[in-house]
Amino acid sequence: MQILMVYSESGGVSKTTTAVSIATIAAQEGRRTVLVDLDPRAASTKWLDVEPSADGLHVGAILGDDDPVGWAEDLAVATTWSPNLRVVPSARSVSNREADRADHAELRLKTSLEGITADLVVIDCPNRQGGPLTLSALNAADTVVYAATASSDGVDGVTGARRTVQQFRHSRERINAPVSLREAGVVVGGVRETIMSRPAVASIDELRETGMLLVPLVPERAIVQEVRLTGEWYGNYRKGAPVLDAYKAIVKQVIR
Ligand SMILES: Nc1ncnc2c1ncn2[C@@H]1O[C@H](COP(=O)(O)OP(=O)(O)OP(=O)(O)O)[C@@H](O)[C@H]1O
Ligand SMILES: [Mg+2]
Repeated sequence: MQILMVYSESGGVSKTTTAVSIATIAAQEGRRTVLVDLDPRAASTKWLDVEPSADGLHVGAILGDDDPVGWAEDLAVATTWSPNLRVVPSARSVSNREADRADHAELRLKTSLEGITADLVVIDCPNRQGGPLTLSALNAADTVVYAATASSDGVDGVTGARRTVQQFRHSRERINAPVSLREAGVVVGGVRETIMSRPAVASIDELRETGMLLVPLVPERAIVQEVRLTGEWYGNYRKGAPVLDAYKAIVKQVIR
């Protein structure tokens, strides 16, 4: 099983679009996939139009429980998009977990995923600079994909996220703990191809300098935003095909 987190420390840089796209494509290609919504704003939960199977049965239950073994399997709800795609939903109250300083709280997500029936877990992260939610993802994941837009916000979010990942690695190495987290690359989403502004070109150059830029860049298409309001998959629309093709090519590179 592969556990992939989609991460950036900036807001609105296509983390959710990238996480949902990778999870959906992987599921439609036949992998048993679980999307974990770790963002209290619950954007991917809303996009896939899912709800916890009962009150309180969202990702916050995992993060707040001392013994969360098997919880991810129990909390994952089916979607209408693919029989292979399930979601561990989020909710506003998950933000309470950011104040949680209980011992080993950062290992609960990892523990909850042990033994889950899945080939792939994708974690949609909030835009936090470290903190308990991000730390939970860092401990659980074996792969990190950075999401960015072609903007200075996009670059800053990746720079900050990479710093957090390095710090996490160092803190593990200092105690001789194994580090299994691998950086798989930077996905650039929502790129305006026709009239690319000078700042956009400059930010893509900066992202390329990291040596981790994944190509193709994902083009901007209005349909991606439109379908989010109706809880649909843009891949079902002809207008979404260029975005779908780009994410399919990304999936080939980041999924084992
Ligand atoms: N390829 C695309 N084409 C058009 N719009 C896009 C594309 N990718 C992302 N967007 C839009 O950009 C906005 C931000 O994307 P998204 O919600 O995925 O970012 P995020 O990093 O998860 O944001 P947040 O920090 O709020 O969680 C959304 O309105 C989304 O629909
Ligand atoms: Mg998001």
